[in-house]
Amino acid sequence: MLKLDGVSKIYRVGAFGGRELKAVSDVSFEVGEGEVVSLIGESGSGKSTLGRMILRLASVSGGTITLDGRDITSLKDRKGYYRQVQGVFQDPFSCYNPVFRADRVFAMIKEQYFPQAGADEWRKRVEGALESVRLDPGNVLGKYPHQLSGGQLQRMLIARAVLLDIRLLVADEIISMLDASTRIDVLNLLADLRARGLGILFVTHDLSLGNYVSDRTVVLRHGKIVEMGRTDLVFGDPAHPYTRSLLASVPRLHAKWTDALPEDMAEDVPCAYHEAPRESRTRPGLAEVEGNHFVACSGCGASKIKEKA
Ligand SMILES: Nc1ncnc2c1ncn2[C@@H]1O[C@H](COP(=O)(O)OP(=O)(O)O)[C@@H](O)[C@H]1O
Ligand SMILES: [Mg+2]
Repeated sequence: MLKLDGVSKIYRVGAFGGRELKAVSDVSFEVGEGEVVSLIGESGSGKSTLGRMILRLASVSGGTITLDGRDITSLKDRKGYYRQVQGVFQDPFSCYNPVFRADRVFAMIKEQYFPQAGADEWRKRVEGALESVRLDPGNVLGKYPHQLSGGQLQRMLIARAVLLDIRLLVADEIISMLDASTRIDVLNLLADLRARGLGILFVTHDLSLGNYVSDRTVVLRHGKIVEMGRTDLVFGDPAHPYTRSLLASVPRLHAKWTDALPEDMAEDVPCAYHEAPRESRTRPGLAEVEGNHFVACSGCGASKIKEKA
């Protein structure tokens, strides 16, 4: 369905835009139907930039993004694209106009996308979408954003996606602002959507959330993929020292902050990329260390020797 191929993003920064900042370098991965892919990385690693490029909110500096084989940047029909791909962002409050009641938000979708729908039919569809995200239509429709909770607003955004019957949802740090019990609700909701065949790109800096929701994981560092593959493999047997350090820094219930990092973080641990046979380098810059588990060079000595040569 969605495919990124060698995607890069360069921002012009500095007083006169004279400096270049490479926020994303040569990123390739796919999101299939009914698949949840989590995009994990620290703040500033380029996750939102990737999400924004997929949503056509930022231009692509290099590489291609395709949906069913068609380049999304050259698609003329923006509306057609947004019928299929939508985003939900971190701060649900900023996504709503504070002076619009919830019904107005849905009325706008009707005007834009379903002008022919009859009033009764439309009302039923809105109610169905709200119920599918476990919101009570009678309770939310007449309300202004400030009268709804963060979890309710986020679920409304997801209801909006359901209403449009999209195929891919880009969810950028959507859980971060919610409290623990609401988090589980929204996560379960994503699982329902996946069961309906929706593809989800789940952007997060929180490893445990990524582990909980996703089928596959892409680990990003400084705009580059360091490791990716089936979530159970990436989390169960991380091959890149960066992934291991991320996992080691997740607070564990019984571990103290002062616990030493795992032994295999030592510098002389062999680089999984360079240890793997050459035939396994099936993607640019990545070696397939086992089926559906890819790793980049750890920045080891081997690559430095090659750079000098
Ligand atoms: N509009 C922009 N203009 C210039 N630099 C940006 C812009 N948006 C993001 N950046 C920079 O690009 C890098 C990646 O940012 P971002 O994609 O937001 O990362 P993340 O979502 O992983 O925290 C950061 O260094 C950030 O400062
Ligand atoms: Mg971000």
